[in-house]
Amino acid sequence: MNLLIIGAPGSGKGTISNNLIKDYDITHVSTGDMLRQAIAQNSPVGLRAAEYMNQGQLVPDSIIHDIIVERLSMDDIKKGFLFDGYPRTVDQAIDLSSILEQLHMKIDAVLELEIDDEILKKRITGRRLCPTCGEIYNIYSKPTKVEDICDKCGGKLITRKDDSLENLTVRLDEYHRNTQPVIEYYEKMDLVKKIDADKSADAVYDDIKSVLEGLK
Ligand code: AP5
Repeated sequence: MNLLIIGAPGSGKGTISNNLIKDYDITHVSTGDMLRQAIAQNSPVGLRAAEYMNQGQLVPDSIIHDIIVERLSMDDIKKGFLFDGYPRTVDQAIDLSSILEQLHMKIDAVLELEIDDEILKKRITGRRLCPTCGEIYNIYSKPTKVEDICDKCGGKLITRKDDSLENLTVRLDEYHRNTQPVIEYYEKMDLVKKIDADKSADAVYDDIKSVLEGLK
């Protein structure tokens, strides 16, 4: 199964992806995670990406094209993929269509997480991440048992550099201007499944599982 998950910053893409990849045995491809890894490694791509990401702006399509082509050439993609946070512009979506055509692959569904911008403030400013195992927490909706320590692996939690209210305004603006047209692109292909993301994380995930059962 090949899926895309699209939604505003903080809508729950990463949280849902962590469950989906385990339950459906598909490969998680998060361009955000890949870019953050490149930044941590101080690679040329990372250095360029940081200029944009630290301000909440989208990274140029040319950089994204290169990392996606490289990622799609890896073997684990063959068992099925979940793209999280990609494509984010109509040009990226057109590019992806042409890359997938060359690889004789297709997208089965696009999960669109619908949520009001106002709710995202608490989700973004309250988010804490475990850099060791990737678990995602929230000081309001999913606190750890011991403050700033991962329940799963004992790692010290971090806050993402771009998770400020100031940055959220820019990220939301980027989302509405550049990424919502991507949903219209996939609506024309009848691939979009709309999901109400203003529910508990478990309830959202149950809705997604029902949608995916319907695809089988
Ligand atoms: P990226 O890493 O993709 O971030 P994003 O889209 O801003 O989304 P987030 O990771 O912030 O949120 P999420 O939807 O995954 O929510 P989460 O599950 O963590 O991109 C970062 C940057 O990289 C971009 O700004 C851009 O610069 C660059 N970039 C990446 N891809 C790019 C591309 N293709 N093109 C160009 N640039 C690109 O949840 C958030 C919080 O809410 C957590 O604390 C969680 O515990 C909590 N939560 C989740 N679900 C619920 C729920 N149902 N109820 C209550 N709380 C919940």
